[in-house]
Amino acid sequence: MHNDKRRETARAVLSSRRSLLCGAVGIGTAGVLAACGTTQDDNPTEQQEPDPNEPLARTSDVPTGGGIVVGTVVLVQPTEGDIAAYDARCTHQGTIVQAPDDDGVIVCPNHLSEYDISGQVTQGPAEEDLAPFAIRIDGEDIYPADD
Ligand code: FES
Repeated sequence: MHNDKRRETARAVLSSRRSLLCGAVGIGTAGVLAACGTTQDDNPTEQQEPDPNEPLARTSDVPTGGGIVVGTVVLVQPTEGDIAAYDARCTHQGTIVQAPDDDGVIVCPNHLSEYDISGQVTQGPAEEDLAPFAIRIDGEDIYPADD
């Protein structure tokens, strides 16, 4: 309930901020124009792909019942010792999603699609689940899988 209220507040703030920024497009500022759609920061092609030789994180970095975002990967641990990974690019337009909140909800900050902690879309506009991302765990280190 508490987190539902926080998400609603975040939606309202984001929506009003977007309206304000997009309403200013008439003044012709390129930076403002970028705020009305997908920005370069949101562009997945600008995000560096994980290096299979570099650990994404340590297992202790991933909270039980939650997760973290590392570059283009979201690492989750729904239950203790059960670590999974998903491509962090929203299936709507590719914006990097946020780490799961206290309820395990993964929110895309761009148009507020939501995914559960298993990567399944629960609220659009995204229609597809987050894509699984293969990992291997070596001791305490979590690496992208070699294939
Ligand atoms: S990019 Fe549109 S909801 Fe994520």
